[in-house]
Amino acid sequence: MTGVLGAQVLISDVKTLSDAEIKELRRLVCEHLVVVIPGQSLTAQQQAEFSLRWGQPGQVPFIEPSPDHPNVIRVLKEAADGNAFNFGGSWHSDFSFQSTPPAFTMLHAIDIPPYGGDTLWASLVAAYNSLDQDRRNQCEGLTAVHTARDAYSRKMQPLHSGLSSMTIVCDDTADELEHHPLVCVHPETGRKVLFYNRAYVRDLDGLQDSAAAPMLDWLYSHTTEARFTCRHRWSVGDLAIWDNRSAQHYALNDYAGFRRELHRTTVAGTRPTMES
Ligand code: SIN
Repeated sequence: MTGVLGAQVLISDVKTLSDAEIKELRRLVCEHLVVVIPGQSLTAQQQAEFSLRWGQPGQVPFIEPSPDHPNVIRVLKEAADGNAFNFGGSWHSDFSFQSTPPAFTMLHAIDIPPYGGDTLWASLVAAYNSLDQDRRNQCEGLTAVHTARDAYSRKMQPLHSGLSSMTIVCDDTADELEHHPLVCVHPETGRKVLFYNRAYVRDLDGLQDSAAAPMLDWLYSHTTEARFTCRHRWSVGDLAIWDNRSAQHYALNDYAGFRRELHRTTVAGTRPTMES
């Protein structure tokens, strides 16, 4: 899709893939960070079954699952929801505040607005690789403090209540803190990743308080530079699969007055680590 990440893979029907083909697709997702497979027809049940072939379902806090399947979320903004805040509408890696964040996310496009609602991804591998040695050394000495506090704590409930067809229930567990190394080694590719996203990384251990805020600002502007990103214009039937361990993403909210629905599953991951 761009020079740093993203690929389109043509498969007539992902439901018919052999185990060897799933293994190859997984390798492609780990290599390109996000893969889009157009033209897929999947019920919620079939998407959940396909996802299960990649690993156990990820744990999903705060968001009520689809009535059609307990492991599927309907990412849905109705036309009447207007300018309400959209699900996924800030740079994040899915649920990085968990001790074992999801390895992969799969998003299947059901209903897409005539314009807008694109998704952006940014490579956290390219963001790391672009650093000079001094910056690498500095980042490798730091631990990121992840929390859902500024997304799903009780005070954030009004932000989510504009979505008439998604039930998002904020609670006190959002205030919990989880610590992950700022530079992680990807467990499948061995590549180093700058494992930062602004939605959930709210502090850094290893720096004095006065130094943490400017470092967090720098991480945000660095990891979201245009040169590390790709952008996908959805069509109905697209299935995007991405690697949360090495990419962050952002759902644009520029389609007020139109309906957008995608079905999401996640695949459980392991604890982020610096060990290769
Ligand atoms: C998400 O953040 O999981 C949703 C992304 C999107 O709707 O494009």
